[in-house]
Amino acid sequence: MAVDLQICEDPARTCAELLVEVASGGGHLVLAGGSTPRAAYEAAAAQGGDWGRATVWFGDERCVDPADERSNFKMVKESLLDRLDGEQPVVKRISGERGPAEAAAAYEDELRAAVPPEFGLVLLGLGPDGHTASLFPDQASLLERDRLALGVEEAGLEPFVPRVTLTLPLLGGGQQIIFLVSGQSKAGAVSAAFGPDAKPDPTVPASMLPPFASEVTVLLDKAAASGVPGP
Ligand code: 6PG
Repeated sequence: MAVDLQICEDPARTCAELLVEVASGGGHLVLAGGSTPRAAYEAAAAQGGDWGRATVWFGDERCVDPADERSNFKMVKESLLDRLDGEQPVVKRISGERGPAEAAAAYEDELRAAVPPEFGLVLLGLGPDGHTASLFPDQASLLERDRLALGVEEAGLEPFVPRVTLTLPLLGGGQQIIFLVSGQSKAGAVSAAFGPDAKPDPTVPASMLPPFASEVTVLLDKAAASGVPGP
């Protein structure tokens, strides 16, 4: 379970190249929400590629209407899907507006019906508190080993709305696990989750992912990397 920290001049562009490569190969991609990946999705749309055979999933979603500014689907639609020139991918939206428990159960059914059994690329973000997807510090969701998707009644960081999240075993099972992290505000979380002394710790959810993965790649800028010793 190697963790590869890659300090990039433009992490979003590097991430976009990986997204386009997997999409053009007809792979299944799990996309991250939040704000950081918006630039990567815009860059991916600008790079083109053939998304017509790809399938897009979501690592988590806020339990709001898909037209709500807080919706991860809305962010992906605006920054990627609406900007694609060619065919659209299959989009597996989390129906967060149904509420956490019902939406998680419905997504679980879709995930279990999906083929192939694993994702080509899982893209994740990192919160300043070390959360990833909607796996928040010290929550029971971190202990889930059977369910693929869970409802989260209380978010540990804004927006404080209920969520749906994929679980660690599923997120860690992808062929490529990519964290995209930028900014000084994430430096502490990067160090705690992926630094030389990091170990799985429920107060830092992202630190619990590497044991489920064969390899984790962290694409980050110098500011986000300032908390870990240089190469
Ligand atoms: C979400 C995201 C979440 C995000 C981190 C970082 O729904 O909020 O999936 O896990 O990746 O909170 O968010 P920023 O990129 O906005 O800092």
